[in-house]
Amino acid sequence: MKTVKLVAVALAAAGCMGNPAWAVETEPSWKQPAPAALQRWQDMRFGMFIHWGPVSLTGHEIGWSRGKQTPIEVYDNLYKEFNPTNFDAAAWAATAKTAGMKYIVLTTKHHDGFCLWDTKQTDYNIMNSPFHRDVVKELAAACKQQGLALGTYYSVCDWHHPDFPLTSPGGQKKREKSDLDAYNRYLLAQIKELIVNYGPLLTIWNDVPQQFKGRGNNTIKMVRELQPDILVNDRTGDGGDYGTPEQHVGGFNMARPWETCMTICQQWAWKPGDQMKSLPECLHALLCTVGGNGNLLFNVGPMPDGRIEPRQVERLKEMGAWLEKYGASVYGTRGGPFKPAPHLVSTRKDRTIFLHILGWSADALMLPPLPARIVKSRVLTGGEATVKQTEAGVEVSVPAANRQPMDTIVALELDQPALDLAPLSLPAPAKR
Ligand code: GLC
Repeated sequence: MKTVKLVAVALAAAGCMGNPAWAVETEPSWKQPAPAALQRWQDMRFGMFIHWGPVSLTGHEIGWSRGKQTPIEVYDNLYKEFNPTNFDAAAWAATAKTAGMKYIVLTTKHHDGFCLWDTKQTDYNIMNSPFHRDVVKELAAACKQQGLALGTYYSVCDWHHPDFPLTSPGGQKKREKSDLDAYNRYLLAQIKELIVNYGPLLTIWNDVPQQFKGRGNNTIKMVRELQPDILVNDRTGDGGDYGTPEQHVGGFNMARPWETCMTICQQWAWKPGDQMKSLPECLHALLCTVGGNGNLLFNVGPMPDGRIEPRQVERLKEMGAWLEKYGASVYGTRGGPFKPAPHLVSTRKDRTIFLHILGWSADALMLPPLPARIVKSRVLTGGEATVKQTEAGVEVSVPAANRQPMDTIVALELDQPALDLAPLSLPAPAKR
């Protein structure tokens, strides 16, 4: 099936005297994600990002510290000492599952070029470390066993590869000799290995597409030929299926799918003693993301011994315990209809709007007029709400004793599908 796009083409240049004509331009079907796959991914709403590799031995940032905090020769030899004997893929998957996450995306190759799987394209991989175990293979098996989807982060830029035009630190240095065509073949062969050997995959999560404008389409075309229902993020060089706001919650958007990636601590890779987010910070990141109609890909950086830090596991468990109770207001929902505000975000599913009240500045929450009738209300977090619907708006109040410090969830049941409502802006909250 082809997606047909009508575009105005000015034929003046071709000598047609400036009369714009309508022509039909077709966008190849491989450029579009399978709608069901996209919906399935959006329904998941919450995933785990994992940044890991030999760099964890230094405690510095993955990729970026090469040639900066760690001299290149030292960085590139770290894998010879990398022996994470406590790595247990089942434990990682269980941590994600207990957190209420539905998928995992692992850095199979970051900007430093090191590969966490048994690739045939380079020796610079985990099988040549003292660990000798295929991390991607083990994680794929564990995810399958525990019912999680797996996606692979794959860095487009590779500051270690001799054919890639840029090198460390931070892709700032130009190589004297390089061959981008050869490198592109390498990249495609590697991504093919990932899909064929460890798929089906949820997504190919490309990153930092330096010099890849015009080449990203090769990636998208190939991955969809290999697996038609795979998704691709927007960092291929030529766009992709979803936006990837980084370290901040993306803006409300019902039209373009998006996924915020954010770290549980400060650094992507493990850093000893790194400052960790509090439970309210973690939950609000998730709620504000889903309220804006996005997914949250929440990052952990496992330690050099292979374990995810126990305090991070604990924090994720707390998120999971909350989601265990209130997940109905998160999974399978879409954002809105109320546009996110600091004190309120909303999600919706079927005929229900879930109000996530993140703070109370007055005794009642004022909502704009709703072009649907509220037939019932429920406070998921306990107690009862008083809901007054008039032409002027909707007033929602919950007794002070039932207002929760992190999130008071009020479900409003409507007389019609909540997804049909156009987005609504909130009035500024009343001052106390
Ligand atoms: C940035 C960073 C990279 C990180 C990624 C995650 O692109 O370069 O280190 O993996 O963000 O979104």
